[in-house]
Amino acid sequence: MASRVYQSHSESATQTFAARLARRLRGGEILGLVGPLGSGKTCFAKGIARGLAIPQIITSPSFVLLKSYQGRLTLHHVDFYRLEMPNDFFSIGMDELLAPDAVIVIEWADRFLPLLPKPLLLISFEVLGRNDRQLSFETHEAHPDHFNYLLQNLDIVTKRLAPDKQRTISKDDL
Ligand SMILES: Nc1ncnc2c1ncn2[C@@H]1O[C@H](COP(=O)(O)OP(=O)(O)O)[C@@H](O)[C@H]1O
Ligand SMILES: [Mg+2]
Repeated sequence: MASRVYQSHSESATQTFAARLARRLRGGEILGLVGPLGSGKTCFAKGIARGLAIPQIITSPSFVLLKSYQGRLTLHHVDFYRLEMPNDFFSIGMDELLAPDAVIVIEWADRFLPLLPKPLLLISFEVLGRNDRQLSFETHEAHPDHFNYLLQNLDIVTKRLAPDKQRTISKDDL
């Protein structure tokens, strides 16, 4: 997978996009979310939870660093925003969280990127406008095709709109 870029024009489109992706998760994946405050990282994580059939509405874990939820897979939702001392967190065992039936979604993953287990799917969020966001996917320390299975299905729902690398998430995808 070369870096793929999508554009979303609403919060619900971002969530639905993430939910579709989540249905392809096999367990053992780490998704690193990168982007400024308000760019849609937590919104995306909510969509992941929905796609994993997690019944709770998930909230930002900023103050507790980690929240875990049970759905089709376990979702560990992590936020590095306020984490000053990475050892506090990594000493509890990031590798232990990464069970075969668990997925880790990390907001502000770029803060401690070198400490994270690999391979990693990095999703970068950019604010293009009030309701417009750009989501860029790239693998980190993995073969470029490593996470293809996650995005293949999304190509089906977006292909009608798609010039090769610039895809639009619109209401048609919901
Ligand atoms: N296309 C979009 N995708 C995601 N969020 C959007 C979009 N358009 C507007 N928003 C708004 O941007 C904000 C994103 O907040 P949040 O997901 O908490 O960001 P972060 O976790 O990156 O700080 C929300 O208020 C949401 O309503
Ligand atoms: Mg957030």
